[in-house]
Amino acid sequence: MTRLRTLSERLGLRARLTIALGLIVAVALAATFVVTYRGTGAEVRGEIDQDLRQDTAAFIRDGIPASATKPAQVEAEVRAYLARQPSFGASARLFLARVVGGATISNEPELLGISNDPLTELETSATQERERSAAARVRTAPPGFHTVDLVDAGDVRLLVKRVIRGGRVVADVGVGESLDAVRRAQHGVSRTFLLAGLLALLASLVAGYALASGVSRPLRRMARTAADVDAGDLSHRMAINGSPREVRVLADSFDHMLDRLEDAFARQRGFVADASHELRTPLTAIRGQLEVMARQDQPTAEDVERVGRLVRTETERMERLVEDLLLLARSDEGHLVRPEEIDVEPFLLELFHALVPTADRHFELGPLPHGTILADPDRTAQVIRNLARNAIAHTRPGGLVRIVAKAHGDRLQIAVEDDGPGIPEAEWELVFDRFHRADRARARSAGGAGLGLAIAKAIVEAHGGSIRVERAPAGGARVIFELPGFVPYA
Ligand SMILES: Nc1ncnc2c1ncn2[C@@H]1O[C@H](COP(=O)(O)OP(=O)(O)OP(=O)(O)O)[C@@H](O)[C@H]1O
Ligand SMILES: [Mg+2]
Repeated sequence: MTRLRTLSERLGLRARLTIALGLIVAVALAATFVVTYRGTGAEVRGEIDQDLRQDTAAFIRDGIPASATKPAQVEAEVRAYLARQPSFGASARLFLARVVGGATISNEPELLGISNDPLTELETSATQERERSAAARVRTAPPGFHTVDLVDAGDVRLLVKRVIRGGRVVADVGVGESLDAVRRAQHGVSRTFLLAGLLALLASLVAGYALASGVSRPLRRMARTAADVDAGDLSHRMAINGSPREVRVLADSFDHMLDRLEDAFARQRGFVADASHELRTPLTAIRGQLEVMARQDQPTAEDVERVGRLVRTETERMERLVEDLLLLARSDEGHLVRPEEIDVEPFLLELFHALVPTADRHFELGPLPHGTILADPDRTAQVIRNLARNAIAHTRPGGLVRIVAKAHGDRLQIAVEDDGPGIPEAEWELVFDRFHRADRARARSAGGAGLGLAIAKAIVEAHGGSIRVERAPAGGARVIFELPGFVPYA
């Protein structure tokens, strides 16, 4: 059983379908053959029985006239009738009459134990014994239909009827016919079926193979494509048309998955390239400065101080970058935030007061909602600081940086807006991409790697919230984010 299963697993879809179809056709043919074989036999036998009925009736009518009532008379009439009939053979009937009070008469001498067949001497005693008992059965058969194996003549169908003359049974007469016709008809059916069946089976195997090839072709193509993809080549697509719907659906979703995979890999590669580039820039600056200083015999205290400052700035920049990258990597893994209940008012006030001394700007804080929010305090503070740092970076000294918080049902909305140049509408979505900077040259000099908003978005989304860019009423940019889980004080 298990060997059969492993074999069927090893066989391809094509071979399996072909074999299955062949088996179905073979079983159907066999069933049809049995029905036809039996039906033909029954039909020919029925015809023979009908013949026998007619022949027995004729025998009684013509062989034993109504006037014959005495055994001697009956015997004489029967003998005269049988003399007019051919002797029993393949195409001639067997006649038998058991005259009551007289002899048993037949056109088959062997039935009566009188053999004129010279071959009888050559038969074995067993055969002779079988013949004798068959002859006895025929001779003594009661009225009705019988089938008897007469050995030499093969199976014989026999109909025995009682003959009544003058109110008395005068004889039992029987007419027999060889069942050879049944055998011949069935033989013909077998021969025809063997030939036609072989052809049908062959045709079904060829058709099955062609059909199975058609069905499995797209699957085989898909397997090849999948193997290519497995080998690292994501550019292949199934692009299967005209196949069955189910196969097309499978191929389409596979292609779709490849599109997304390719896209994800491309973004990943881009991210790594950007990250390496961002890390290399400060390293190059540090090395350049150190090399310049190494070439000087006697670097002045000023030079040392300048290079020290630069190295500090650049390493700080790298530190921040590495931290940001780690944070984004953690957000990809899905454990970025540890929410806890935060009192909104003191939380925002403290953040705001820490922000004010960092830059020469006009800082404003709108009225604060009273309630608590379920959020990670460190990460939420990081979002607000990132947005404020952007606002500061894009405004001139004395410019406006305003923080506004509002509650909307169970959502807390926090916006940071400024009166700087704002963000062009075409960039409103793009600014959240990693390493995206609207104005590369300027942003670089302002110290940004383009990760601040990407990080803000990752943190907000990890809370189940959302973030977007708008135009501020003061004309600059407004970045607004919403967190769920706000509960107002009762
Ligand atoms: N308040 C703003 N006004 C105008 N442009 C802004 C403002 N905030 C963000 N941007 C634009 O969006 C870009 C992406 O901002 P993001 O905070 O992600 O990166 P960054 O500030 O350049 O660098 P980082 O925050 O990593 O130090 C910025 O480079 C800038 O072009
Ligand atoms: Mg920023």
